[in-house]
Amino acid sequence: MLDKNFLWGTATASYQCEGGWNEGGRVPSLWDEYLHKNNLENGDNASDHYHRYKEDIRLMKEGGHKAYRFSLAWPRIIKNREGDVNQEGIQFYHNIIDECLKNGIEPFVTLFHWDLPQYWEDKGGWAEREVCDAFVRYAQVCFEEYGNKVTFWSTFNEPRYYVFSGYKIGNYPPGVDDTQKTIQASFYMMLANALTVRLFREMKMDGQIGIVHSYAPIFGVDNSLETKIAMRKADNYFNNWILDTAIKGEIPIDMLSILNEKYDLCFMKVEDFEAIKQNTVDFVGLNYYARALIKPYTDGETILRINNKGKEAKGSSKVVVKGWFEQVFDNPDSTYTEWDTEIYPQGLYEGIMQAYKKYGIPIYITENGVAFYEDVSGEKSVDDQGRIHFLNAHIDAILRAIEDGADVLGYFIWSTMDLYSWKNGHEKRYGLVGIDFENNFERKPKSSFYWYKKVCESNGATI
Ligand code: BG6
Repeated sequence: MLDKNFLWGTATASYQCEGGWNEGGRVPSLWDEYLHKNNLENGDNASDHYHRYKEDIRLMKEGGHKAYRFSLAWPRIIKNREGDVNQEGIQFYHNIIDECLKNGIEPFVTLFHWDLPQYWEDKGGWAEREVCDAFVRYAQVCFEEYGNKVTFWSTFNEPRYYVFSGYKIGNYPPGVDDTQKTIQASFYMMLANALTVRLFREMKMDGQIGIVHSYAPIFGVDNSLETKIAMRKADNYFNNWILDTAIKGEIPIDMLSILNEKYDLCFMKVEDFEAIKQNTVDFVGLNYYARALIKPYTDGETILRINNKGKEAKGSSKVVVKGWFEQVFDNPDSTYTEWDTEIYPQGLYEGIMQAYKKYGIPIYITENGVAFYEDVSGEKSVDDQGRIHFLNAHIDAILRAIEDGADVLGYFIWSTMDLYSWKNGHEKRYGLVGIDFENNFERKPKSSFYWYKKVCESNGATI
């Protein structure tokens, strides 16, 4: 039997759902600047959660949710590099948190889900130490304001995805391919994580603090030694530099020594390593969409190509890390979404078991979901049986892992409602609640919403 306190919920992120991008004193984030400048589909209005959060939280309650994972927008809370606080922004999140608590929903709060204020991006963004220090000051404001209401805090959502996409793949802002900056930004985010955990302890906060990782459990194409070596390198690339660093306080030494041959690591100071060692997280959030199936590197330059276009680019994803490994995106035995994401629930079971054996701390599955093209314009709600099937199989994987001893304490579906998907726009729909973006953002719960209500209310017994 599942613990009665298991947190069943759904998740969003500020930039992806709020809208109101220039309201209530919010200043631009790097996403506003980048998407506007490049004339790309943006989240100016997103799902209009900024104006409709009460309705959304009421729907969560109706849907049986025990928890809601969302992020605070730094550009709503801190106005400038001097650290001046925007009271209207502060109040907005008080309203959300209070509304959750009033409805018996546990707020599960992320401090940073990628919307860095543009005023810090102008100073070099996460590749600079100054931003790391500013993040800790921002965290302090949030802890002081909301600390007596919020139990579950996460420092970062998916540092790996953010850093690699922005600084190496170049498909997210700042849109560059610069390995030195990739290393710096990765390090400073992990340092900021440790310094924020230290602050959390110094402030004697009630509650728990963790980090959320884009988890790609590593699988090999065969059992050869070459594949095993490639798998280790892929594990460092995808997972270890976040998880080992945040949970064990150790940056993988084999990775540092390879990087040290070609790049300048002098910016890492002895006291930074000490801070990382001493300030580890209480729990880990794992976002699971797919495993990484790995084969040994063959030849050619590094290619990191992710399909952000959907069906018109299906099959175009390619990941080759020169000298390290290659990722397989065309396994004939697998099915893939229109965005090249493999559907592989067993990867979640095995990933949880591996992570729990290795780290032994509580795990929350902080995101899991599947995207489809869906027409929500009609009178009838979307009958998303494909999503129900997907979610059912993944929850089943979690329940099996718990039965086999893993300490998984919560599960959040991505996403609460349809929202803006980074670079993919609004047509990549993940929500349990459909949003009719063309028709006054009307909320239209899909079949999966009613299915999940039963799962939450029966504490997983209907799986
Ligand atoms: C996670 C992020 O990487 O995956 C979310 O935390 C994101 O913000 C989700 O939206 C799905 O990715 P995408 O690119 O399909 O929106």
